[in-house]
Amino acid sequence: MEEKEISQAVISRLPRYFRYLGELKDGGTERVSSQELSDIMKVTASQIRQDFNNFGGFGQQGYGYNVEFLYYEIGKILGLNKTHNLIIIGAGNLGQALANYVNFERRGFLFKGIFDSNPALYGNKIRDIEVQPMENMEIFVKDNDIDMAVLTIPKGEATKVAELLVEYGIKGIWNFAHVDLSVPEDVQVENVHLSDSLMKLSYNINRFEMDNKGQQDI
Ligand code: NAI
Repeated sequence: MEEKEISQAVISRLPRYFRYLGELKDGGTERVSSQELSDIMKVTASQIRQDFNNFGGFGQQGYGYNVEFLYYEIGKILGLNKTHNLIIIGAGNLGQALANYVNFERRGFLFKGIFDSNPALYGNKIRDIEVQPMENMEIFVKDNDIDMAVLTIPKGEATKVAELLVEYGIKGIWNFAHVDLSVPEDVQVENVHLSDSLMKLSYNINRFEMDNKGQQDI
């Protein structure tokens, strides 16, 4: 497949394609046209074709897309054709909720360890994974081939913990702490802010109400 720079906007749409294609595949659908995908996903067919063209197209004129092939290829682009070993740092509300969510494993994200600085939590089990002290982290990362870390600790603690993770050779940080981390370029950070999504929801409610009010006033 042709290698070229793909925009982050396209990359950010791939997980959604992957999810829908997975559902089609599981439901026994063998092929799908860009128009059918467009109807299901509420994205224009031309956007879908444009996105897939970034990767050499995948489709055949008059046939559409082979669902299983497309699912597999997009999975490969997303790096889901291999498993990732993760640790969670911060065994509080959010860390526990993530550790308890079993579906990440179906996608190849395996939670191997959970660490916290609070001795009261050591030995507590979350789905068979014991909370360990931070002092164990370095050896654990090396022994268990850990490539990703989830940061669910207060923002004031995140920078120094991220520095340790980089030093231990972690390649990706899924950062829930509300702070921008500065890491070397061979380490990837994905920031998650659930409140951004909530604010977008609030905006859309507002916008809908404003639009409708405008119509009622006419
Ligand atoms: P929590 O207080 O329940 O858990 C935080 C855990 O981190 C505690 O167990 C604490 O002992 C541990 N901790 C603190 N300093 C540490 C350190 N230096 N090393 C290791 N462990 C340490 O808090 P909660 O609700 O789980 O939230 C965790 C973080 O995630 C907070 O910073 C919060 O603001 C953030 N958050 C972010 C969201 C997002 O969408 N990005 C959503 C919800 C929370």
